[in-house]
Amino acid sequence: MCKFANVSAEAKIKALTSELKEHNYNYYVLSQPTISDRDFDRKLKELELLEQAFPKYADPNSPTKRVGGEITKNFNTVEHSTRMLSLGNTYNKDELLEFDNRVAKLTGGNNYQYTAELKFDGLAIAIRYKNGVLHQAITRGDGTKGDDVTANVKTIRSIPHQLSGEYPNDLEVRGELFIHKAAFIKMNEERARLGESIYANPRNTASGTLKLQDSSEVAKRPLDGFMYQMLEHGGTNLDHYQSLEVMKTYDLPVNQSTKLCDSINDVWEFITYWDQERHNLSFEIDGVVIKVNSRLQQEEMGFTSKFPRWAKSYKFETERQSTKVIDIAYQVGRTGAVTPVANLEPVQLLGTTVKRASIHNADFISEMDIRVGDTVFVEKGGEIIPKIVDVDKSKRDSKSTPTQFIKQCPECLSELERPKGEAVFRCPNSTGCPPQIKGRIEHFIGRKAMDVSSLGEGKIDVLYRSGLVRRPVDLYDLGYDDLLGLSKSIANEESEEERVVSFKEKTVQNILDGIQASKVQPFERVLFALGIRFVGETVAKKLAYHFKNMDALINASLEDLNATPEIGDVIAQSVISYFSIDENKLEIEQMKSHALNFCVKEKELSSNKLENLRFVVSGIFSLFSRTELKKIIEENGGKNVSSISKSTDFLLVGDNMGPAKKEKAEKLGVKMIDENEFSSMIAE
Ligand code: IVH
Repeated sequence: MCKFANVSAEAKIKALTSELKEHNYNYYVLSQPTISDRDFDRKLKELELLEQAFPKYADPNSPTKRVGGEITKNFNTVEHSTRMLSLGNTYNKDELLEFDNRVAKLTGGNNYQYTAELKFDGLAIAIRYKNGVLHQAITRGDGTKGDDVTANVKTIRSIPHQLSGEYPNDLEVRGELFIHKAAFIKMNEERARLGESIYANPRNTASGTLKLQDSSEVAKRPLDGFMYQMLEHGGTNLDHYQSLEVMKTYDLPVNQSTKLCDSINDVWEFITYWDQERHNLSFEIDGVVIKVNSRLQQEEMGFTSKFPRWAKSYKFETERQSTKVIDIAYQVGRTGAVTPVANLEPVQLLGTTVKRASIHNADFISEMDIRVGDTVFVEKGGEIIPKIVDVDKSKRDSKSTPTQFIKQCPECLSELERPKGEAVFRCPNSTGCPPQIKGRIEHFIGRKAMDVSSLGEGKIDVLYRSGLVRRPVDLYDLGYDDLLGLSKSIANEESEEERVVSFKEKTVQNILDGIQASKVQPFERVLFALGIRFVGETVAKKLAYHFKNMDALINASLEDLNATPEIGDVIAQSVISYFSIDENKLEIEQMKSHALNFCVKEKELSSNKLENLRFVVSGIFSLFSRTELKKIIEENGGKNVSSISKSTDFLLVGDNMGPAKKEKAEKLGVKMIDENEFSSMIAE
């Protein structure tokens, strides 16, 4: 029975819905949360459960609906109500004063005011509300028509599905969507770990995100936005600053920094302030937007063919520094891709010391003609990833020679290859090149793959060097005696001494337990863990659910794969080529013999055989791992508790259980069973 049944579910749903909407507003619009993320998520979960139990009381615009779920193969094109224009740019004070002179002329000597607002670095969006309900969201597109991305925009917590206050029946607002700097860094770190491509800057990430076909994927990426324009409605011609204030009363996200300025000097003050202060914002701005405030004056001034005459943007300079290239190093990734990196003389840039810069690939090096010893300019791409943007050739040593991209793998000396149409050089020695082998094993045990947290980069290096593990499947053959005493040297950079650390009993047991426990991971994770190129977490899920089991996937033709929703030709080709290699198929067979999951399990059929029973699981078992046993207990309605008390019903005893536990169980009269007895309890 539902545990909320005795409370008025309807009232509780209503209260939680409005409370969570308010928290969303505080968090995303005002940036002043009054509740911790954890508490928010707890309340959201509670609401979700209630809505599942009592769907008839669920608000159609509930905060729980922001998790997405709609899949759109192609976006519909929608015409804009009026053209979405861009702005003319200014880059210095003189150009700004020139703009002010023109405004003075065009307003015919009348007084005028400006609004100065932040220029958010994201992508423009038009959002239409009908009777206060979010109806349609459209990208800028070519300015005349754009893509209908409504399902994706609905996942953004700061954009209300339902307006508040006294809104007009038909309303269109326009603004900018973006991703916060911290979220961008976190996302890229995760992508790098998974061997996926890195986004260049938050703006690209935001626009890539908005174009994703699956809105539940969009919901996982924290997009945010500010509205900066309200289209005239109901015959009211509000001045611009006033219209921003009105938008706030509808609960729309409007940035608080906008300033009403009486003169261009006030605007300049705003610009110089934000040029410094922008580094402390949680999102990126690339300048300031200046608009004539009076709607009447705006109308008098009108438009050129491209821009409004009453507005301009002032673009900040991106900070750059010059430094020297000490050398060019080459890194080999798990897919064999060789990435060049420039080691630089350390230089301060936006508060951090930059020692390395990404130089992408061979084409980039030759196009920019970057050479060792050169003086180069570095910028932070999207102010985060340092990159070389220019070479100061006037400072070049006359004896320097163009950089030759290496021809051999720096790790295994194989001749590098450059596949047709690709910008990267690759080491083809996928089964013998150490960083590729280790990279594949690291990927396999990763948190989003098989999740063996008792292993990491260091331990994998030891296992690799000992010769015990060359492929992920070898992990499942490891035994206690193989691991005990394996040792690794740890360099102490300060003293330049090396320390030798060996695997002790507890470490070994943890590693083995972790590997055993990974066997419960579902098929989609195993598929992702294999590290097939272009098969990331989401694609793996799609393939797993579509084909249901590994054999069907292995036997799928190129046409079958191409006909799978959201699977394009590049992924299809990559899957085919992976399974055309006999070693890969052999490894899968071996994984099967270790009981890894290679089919999608229909929702686990749990029983209530252990309902209300409390278990403590202790020791080492031979039929199941501890994690498996705990899972089985939960799936059959039982509860796992960590220590023995009067209310414990069973102590599930394995080998090597400590004597203290046994004593306590005996004292409190807790029944002790072994894994065979436990199995028959479930089987009965
Ligand atoms: S007003 C007709 N205000 O900058 C006026 N634009 O080149 C339309 N942007 O892609 C734009 N912050 O999306 C305006 N506070 C702001 C803005 C802003 C960012 C973007 C806009 C467009 C580009 C203009």
